[in-house]
Amino acid sequence: MIEMEAATITFDRFKPLADEACEERILAARAKLGKQAMILGHHYQRVDVYKHADLTGDSLKLSKLAAQTDAQYIVFCGVHFMAEVADILSKPGQVSILPDLNAGCSMADMANLAKVERAWRELATVLDPDQHVTPVTYINSAADLKAFCGEHGGIVCTSSNARAILEWSFKRRGKVLFFPDQHLGRWTGYLMDIPLAEMLVWDPDEELGGLTPQQIKMAKILLWKGHCSVHQMFQPQHVLRWREQNPSGMVISHPECRFDVCKLSDYVGSTDFIIRTIAASPPGTRWLVGTELNLVNRIAEQFKPQGKVVQFMAPTVCMCSTMARIDPQHLAWTLENLVAGKVVNQIKVPAHEAELARIALDRMLAVS
Ligand code: 13P
Ligand code: SF4
Repeated sequence: MIEMEAATITFDRFKPLADEACEERILAARAKLGKQAMILGHHYQRVDVYKHADLTGDSLKLSKLAAQTDAQYIVFCGVHFMAEVADILSKPGQVSILPDLNAGCSMADMANLAKVERAWRELATVLDPDQHVTPVTYINSAADLKAFCGEHGGIVCTSSNARAILEWSFKRRGKVLFFPDQHLGRWTGYLMDIPLAEMLVWDPDEELGGLTPQQIKMAKILLWKGHCSVHQMFQPQHVLRWREQNPSGMVISHPECRFDVCKLSDYVGSTDFIIRTIAASPPGTRWLVGTELNLVNRIAEQFKPQGKVVQFMAPTVCMCSTMARIDPQHLAWTLENLVAGKVVNQIKVPAHEAELARIALDRMLAVS
């Protein structure tokens, strides 16, 4: 008898399913897969996906977890660059999966290899970048940019280790080209006492980044003109108004927020740092939080029994729409295919690119 190979289950069957129906199917598929599959979930995931994660964390923690797990399948409930990092850091034979391939990061898309290579060539008309400039890419970037950093003596950073990474970088070369998030770069430089006048924005759509050779020579950090549109929603007036009404309250922001918002905050740090800081605060503390809404809503609920009041910084709803692409329907579809022996939505970084990107990621993991 000829054995027929099972066909991939198409997503169309899952599209009309209610969230509750998906929940049951996710639990059933998980029970069948056991330790074969590990679900990693970023803090910005919606609650009905987040609750299925075996392990959760910020970008740094999740990349370390991806490097440690022995599960055959790493199902990444996060965005594309995170699943790429999981693929690069995982062992041979492990498979990294992103339940919806449309889950990208608009900030990561603000830099690409062609533009970074052009910047490097243009810098070479002023100085030798391989001698004088460390390329530092935020982990929110495509694998080929991490590979560029690996190849050019550079490194990757996350929002929780950016300072240690910049210190590492300045020990090697006098300048840093920081991409794609100007705000994380500026805030970190500011913490290191680098004057704002020595941190200049590099506009990739302008010749020589819109700078003069003289400006490039005097700059310590060249900040790529990129940002996270979710975190740009938070404005200084939101903090000031809240402080008037909550004079003893505390303000905590993600470093992707604008510089003036970070400056007005009591604490600035990664998503994990935000959770830990609020968790460690005394009962009854009031918090204003400048980061993605799913996370803020979740911690507001979590800490309510301790009498802590956690509020979202912006008056409008602003969620990361790409993180929200991972929904129970896509998660159920992905897991049921694994049960049927089929891999859908595998994220595979080409070998040579992965090798170079790994150099930059390993440098980061050694520093942090
Ligand atoms: P964290 O590393 O702080 O979780 O941040 C990731 C991210 O994309 C924030 O927008
Ligand atoms: Fe990217 Fe911003 Fe979404 Fe984070 S919140 S994944 S930086 S778009």
